[in-house]
Order: sequence, then structure tokens, then C-alpha cells
Amino acid sequence: MNKLPTFLYGGDYNPEQWPEETWSNDIQILKNAHVNSATINVFSWALLEPSEGHFDFTQLDRIIKHLSNQGFQIILGTSTAAIPAWLFKYYPDVARVDFQGRRHRFGQRHNFCPTSPNFRQHVSRLVTELAKRYANQTNVVAWHINNEYGGTCYCSNCQQSFQNWLKDRYHTLANLNQAWDTNVWSHTLHYWDEIMVPNELSDAWGPEGHHTVLEGAYIDYFRFQSEMMLNEYLMEKEIIRKYDQSTPVLTNFHSTPNKLINYQKWANSQDIIAYDSYPAYNAPWSHPAFLYDLMYSLKHQPFLLMESAPSQVNWQAYSPLKEPGQLRATELQAVAHGADSVQYFQLKQARGGTEKFHSAIISHSQTEDTRVFKEVQQLGEELSQVGPEILDSTITSKVALFFDWNSYWGYEMVDGVSKDMNYLAIIHDYYQTLYDRHLPVAIVGADDDLSIYDIIFAPVLYMVDENLDAKLHNYVKEGGHLVATFMSGMVNESDLIYPGGYPGPLTDLMGLWVEETDALPADQQVSVFFTDGVRKTATFLADQLRLTTAQPLANYASKFYAGSPAVATNRFGQGRTYYVGCRLSIDGLGHLVDQICEVAHINGLVEQGNPLEVTKRVQSDGTALYFILNLTHTPQNLPARFQNDYLDLLTNHAPKRKLLPWDVQILKHS
Ligand code: GLA
Ligand code: ZN
Repeated sequence: MNKLPTFLYGGDYNPEQWPEETWSNDIQILKNAHVNSATINVFSWALLEPSEGHFDFTQLDRIIKHLSNQGFQIILGTSTAAIPAWLFKYYPDVARVDFQGRRHRFGQRHNFCPTSPNFRQHVSRLVTELAKRYANQTNVVAWHINNEYGGTCYCSNCQQSFQNWLKDRYHTLANLNQAWDTNVWSHTLHYWDEIMVPNELSDAWGPEGHHTVLEGAYIDYFRFQSEMMLNEYLMEKEIIRKYDQSTPVLTNFHSTPNKLINYQKWANSQDIIAYDSYPAYNAPWSHPAFLYDLMYSLKHQPFLLMESAPSQVNWQAYSPLKEPGQLRATELQAVAHGADSVQYFQLKQARGGTEKFHSAIISHSQTEDTRVFKEVQQLGEELSQVGPEILDSTITSKVALFFDWNSYWGYEMVDGVSKDMNYLAIIHDYYQTLYDRHLPVAIVGADDDLSIYDIIFAPVLYMVDENLDAKLHNYVKEGGHLVATFMSGMVNESDLIYPGGYPGPLTDLMGLWVEETDALPADQQVSVFFTDGVRKTATFLADQLRLTTAQPLANYASKFYAGSPAVATNRFGQGRTYYVGCRLSIDGLGHLVDQICEVAHINGLVEQGNPLEVTKRVQSDGTALYFILNLTHTPQNLPARFQNDYLDLLTNHAPKRKLLPWDVQILKHS
């Protein structure tokens, strides 16, 4: 159930937005582009259940029939992410209350309250009908529940469920008061019903998720909401499983990643991870690469690229066209990082509504004679050839980057020191440095087996609970290399500072403690001298370190703390740790990462400085597939190690020695 038998090439299809006479022709055009799958019924609740309890599946039956007759694989949505008007009208509690305390009304999508009993009851009835009716459809290869879970509800139902959730977690109010440190600003709680949801009407202020009086309470609220969304998903999944025990069930993850949904906690409930990829027009290529690696790492197995844009989207500040060749290169980038499908939003461009200017395979011109159509067609043809080889392959890494939703929440709620607490920015610094060195990276969390990695980079690991503390100690003791930074090990799971010096429980591992932290305004930097004589710069924060057993690797060369340590290393058990007390420039971080990799005997897939993107997937018999992508605007030479004895699976010839912009090769030893 963790794998689909074919490499899917397709995407979201909304034939209900078009007259039925057009369907056959559209499906033929899509077949001409080698499309073999369609995701349908994602937003059709109002058509499926026009009034309460009255179902009409005749149109969906016909859509499934049309697609099945043409041999399409179908991903069937449950349609529960956009609520019909009648449901809002008769049961207003199905709608979310937002951060400002406003109850939403009929409109939009993705705005249901996850704890609303009325929402759950109506979802159950709809999904039961769908599951009963379509459980045995041979062409349905996956169930797609809801859509892009996200956001937060602050309604009274959620408040009451939160109080119950807290009773389960803390048992007594005394425990809760202690965990949240409620004596601050007279927040001591004497009755469970005094607990409020933390929005702008109570403890928090904007932007959402950044400021509140008691961070521990807000972080618990995020945990609670993520879990309630998961419960809603699982409710749908269990209904499907009553009628269909074998078809994979999933939902589509999205965003950069989604801050409000803890994907690591959700991963086990997905049969296959699915991801919607919409990189910002100005994001570096390491950014989508990071997200693909995160998606792969959630289950350490291939994921589905569930949505992507054939060319422009309709919702960025600027939505540039994809250049000739860019579509192929960027879709194959997802495959290079572990995707086992290429799917688009959407197959046919809408006539009406907010997304009518979002690109699609069949554009408004409704002809095959477009640049985008031809590029989609070419890629479809290539994937029909190489898909089976790819399906048989997986990814392994010796290097891991730690990503943790608890630290994400806690770190960005820090009031004070600097206003620029951006978790993803620091994570990305480290990812980019590894990416530039062509090092395959697993993105791991607290539940992962850490022992299989030679180096773990764990930047801004702000929140460390007892389990993680023990796990990290054990990892280093047994010989691992652990890299930590400023703002790490500071608080427990309730966002309470560990007394005794930062980085709290990691102090002995790092062989140092942090006495103070200087905040550098955005236009300031400090100089840092590595002990090998190399001079680099740093920005943002500058920890004042007190080394106990650690040795300095770099010292500050600016301000009153010139000459004091900025980066240090320590031996612990069989392993070694590194502590980075400031935000090193990317080349400064690169200089450090090179030293760390040398000590740990880790090498990239090709030499550092090569501007190509190079990744590796390994087939079940051990054969390596190398993905070589030129995502730059200039021609690049194929690295020497691939110049002989390799076959490019995309051309079935020896690889070209020069890759033009957007060129891609998939190399296998010949
Ligand atoms: C999301 C949604 C789709 C569509 C696309 C447009 O990923 O899941 O329904 O709105 O964005 O980019
Ligand atoms: Zn709610």
C-alpha cells in the first residue's frame, strides 16, 4: 500500500466545470500528452449532496466511467475541503473562527472547524456514501482525503475540546499551571473552563503564531489543532477502510512547509506521502530541493508529486512563465529527490473563478499547438520510458538535517533579542550549504532513528525535551557528529527555560555554555576568524561563549568581544560536537561544513563548486541512478566521473559532455 504500480503522470481534473460533450475530446488531448492519471472530485460536495442527506452521484459516475474507459488511473477525492452553502446555513459551527475571533460564513474553502460535531457528522455521511459506491472501482488507485490541511480554528467547540485535551495531557491544573508558568501576569488557573483559545481576543497578538503571553499554552494549542486535523483525516480514512482495505489513502501536504500541521506526526497515517510543489518565482533551487527531501524523509520512501504548475500560477505577486525547458527540469528535480509521479494543477484551465489564470495542460486556447502543451507532452513521453526504472529506486543519506515543528513554533514565538526569528531561514542556510556540496541529506525529526547518520546538523534546535536530549546524547556517545547553533536547547517542551545556562541539556555535549547573546541589527555584521586563519563574517546573533571542555574553531574579530570564541568543537564519548554561536555567512558556514565533513570522512557526489545539481537514487539491485540537472542559465560541463561508461536513460545514448541550461540527464552505469 506504500507504492503505486505505475509512474503517474497527470493531475487535478475538474470536468464538472465543463459541458459533458467536451470531456471525450479533452481526455483524448490529455492522452496525446501521455497523461495516464487524473485526480478528481476534490471540491464537489455541493454537487454530490445538493441538500442535506440527498446524494447525487450520477455525474461523478459518468466522469469515472469516461476516465476508466480511456485507461486513466484515478485518484479519488473525498470533497470535504470546501463546504456547501446549506451546511453553513443550517450548522454555522462547521465554519472556523479565525485568529481575530471572527466566525466565517459560506465561501472560500479549507475553512472547516476540525472539532465541529456537525462537520464531522456530515463528512462521515458523505465519505460513507463515496466509499460504499467506489470501493471496488478498479481504476481508483488512491483515495485523496480533503485537501491541503492547514490553518487554525479558535471557536468555542475547539476551546472546549482543547480543555479536554489538556486534562488528558496534564491531569491536574497544578501540573498545567506549572508547565505554562501561569503566575506570569496573573494567569494562574483555578478551573479548567478558564482556559481560553490563544487568539487576538485573549493572549496572542499578531501576526498569528508569533506573540503571546504564555508560549507554552500557544504551542500546546498548535499541537492540539494539528492533532484535531489529523483526527478528522483519520475519521475519513477509517470510513474508507471499512469498504476498501487495499487502496492507498493519502492527503496532499503543501507549503514551505506548513507551519501549523506537524507533518512528522502525520506521516504514519499516510500510506504514501503526497506533496504540492509551488516554489516561489524568486526562490533558490535549494528551496524546492529541501522540501522534496523533507517529503521523502517523512517515511523514508518515495512520495507523490501531487500538484505543480505547468507554467505560471495565479497567486504570486509576480507569476513568471516557466522558460522553455524549465518545466521538464523542475519536474525532474522532484523525481531526482524521490518523487514517484509528476502531476499538475491542473489538466484543463478553468473558464471562471479565481484560478482561471493558473496554467494548465489544456490552456484557454484549447489547442495542442502551444509551447507548454508540447513540453508537457515531451516529458510525458520520456517518463513513460524511464518511469519503471525510477519506480524501483530509493534514496539513502549519511548526512541528516534536523527539522522539528516544536522548535519551529517555539523559536518564532520568542519575544525579544531580535525580531528576525525565522526558523526556515536558518534551516535553509544549512541545507543550502549541504546542497552546494552535493551531499544527499535526510531531513529528520525526533522520532527518527538517528544512529544511521554520520553527521546530524541541528540548527536552532530551540526546544529539547527529555527524550530528544537522551537520544542526542546517545547518538554522540556512540560516535555521531552533532552540529548545534545559537538558540538551541533553551527550553523544555512547555517553552520553559532550562536553568543553568544555554544550551540547557546540550551543555555537556557541546562543552560550553552561553553567557549572553548579542543581537545585530539587519545592517550590521561581525568578523569571525577561523583558527586556520580564514576570515569570514556573521550576522543576526552573536553568542558569548564560555568554553568548558570545547576547543575554539573560530573567534570573533569585532566589537568588545573580539578574540572570544564564536564556533567551538568538543569530544563527547566516541563522537564529536560543533557549536556555531552566530549566523555565519553562507561561505563561512561552507568553510566550517568542509572541516566537519573532512573529520567525518563524508564526500559529496561530485566535487564542491560544481554548479550542477546532482542526486542519486538506488535501484533494488543496487544500481545507482544519477540525476544531473543544469538549473543555471549557462552551459555546464558534465563532471569527469560520469564522462565514460554511463548511459543517459532519457536519450539511451552516452551522456553529452556539456549540459545546456535546463538540461537533465539520468545516468546509469553501462
Ligand atoms: C493548491 C490546491 C489546488 C489549487 C492549487 C493552485 O495546491 O490544492 O486546489 O488551488 O493550489 O496553485
Ligand atoms: Zn473550531
